[in-house]
Amino acid sequence: MTAQPAASTTPVAISNESPEILLEAHRVSRRFGGLLAVRAVDLVIPAGGIISIIGPNGAGKTTFFNVVAGIIDPSGGTVSFRGRVLITMPRRVWLESLAWVVPSAIAVLVGLLLGAGSAGEAGILVTLAVAVGLMVVVLVTAIARPRWYQDVLARVGIIRSARPNDVVAAGVGRTFQNIRLFQNMTVLENVLVGMHLKLRSNLLDHIISSRRQAAEEAQAVIRARELLRLVGLRGREDELAKNLPYGDQRRLEVARALGNDPVLLLLDEPTAGMNPRETSEMTALIARLRDDLGIAILLIEHDMRVVMGISDRITVLDHGERIAEGTPDEVRRDPRVIEAYLGRPAE
Ligand SMILES: Nc1ncnc2c1ncn2[C@@H]1O[C@H](COP(=O)(O)OP(=O)(O)O)[C@@H](O)[C@H]1O
Ligand SMILES: [Mg+2]
Repeated sequence: MTAQPAASTTPVAISNESPEILLEAHRVSRRFGGLLAVRAVDLVIPAGGIISIIGPNGAGKTTFFNVVAGIIDPSGGTVSFRGRVLITMPRRVWLESLAWVVPSAIAVLVGLLLGAGSAGEAGILVTLAVAVGLMVVVLVTAIARPRWYQDVLARVGIIRSARPNDVVAAGVGRTFQNIRLFQNMTVLENVLVGMHLKLRSNLLDHIISSRRQAAEEAQAVIRARELLRLVGLRGREDELAKNLPYGDQRRLEVARALGNDPVLLLLDEPTAGMNPRETSEMTALIARLRDDLGIAILLIEHDMRVVMGISDRITVLDHGERIAEGTPDEVRRDPRVIEAYLGRPAE
């Protein structure tokens, strides 16, 4: 069956005044060979909202998550963050490397036309110097990828989707379905690693080990300790990550993701493998992130019970398709949702 999901996006209404829309996924699809793992899925996340995606194993939740996080490219559709398209199908990316040599080539041509006759060897040297200089400037720009550079590329039809780092820099933090901590680093170090994007000291500062760098590091340590307290890991700063119990490792991942001050946090099955007590602690922590820090949350879960109490709205995926969207109560009563969950053996 390849029925199209309901095409319209349902407007999100959480309070009377409509909050800013942080993230909007529009008809996101992802194909793996012959398998359409995610089919034209729409999703809206308002500022400060807790939005959940649930669905049986294999429904496409992690695939959707990875597309939004910039880890895999979509096969169709877009994801906008704060009104700007971040994620899209890449187009004509191969042309970009051509753009790097064009300014230098033009410099050489102009140099040859103007200087070849009159200035002789000196003219050729100057032309070469200008061409090499231009090449260096263009390449440095291409590496730094400032916004205007990307806009220029987009204008000539070269579209690159955001990479994971770009997504984090835009203000979207995330944790993964499988724990990805630096197991042999301490708890505190794991959080500090997550903050590297925020440190502003430049290379020169590092070389001369400036006061600014020292101040920033001290500030980072203070912030990291705050975050550890927030997730309930106070007093554990110097333990090795690998020695923490499973539930604490998951909370450490959350603290690390908070290190870049995200406005939106993506959590892929944060309670996977947890016992009931750890699960309810994690659920309470997620609610606290929103209430205390004002962070919006996209929560991916396969256990429906986890999301019922804390979600503003829930999207249900099955076989890559959105089969329901609504408040927890609406979703719970939806016959298609009941069938998706009860119509097959439980995992
Ligand atoms: N890298 C991949 N290559 C091929 N198939 C994949 C890949 N990742 C996921 N899939 C398939 O896509 C479907 C959705 O998987 P996934 O997004 O992990 O589901 P969920 O997180 O809801 O359990 C599954 O059938 C899975 O086997
Ligand atoms: Mg998954």
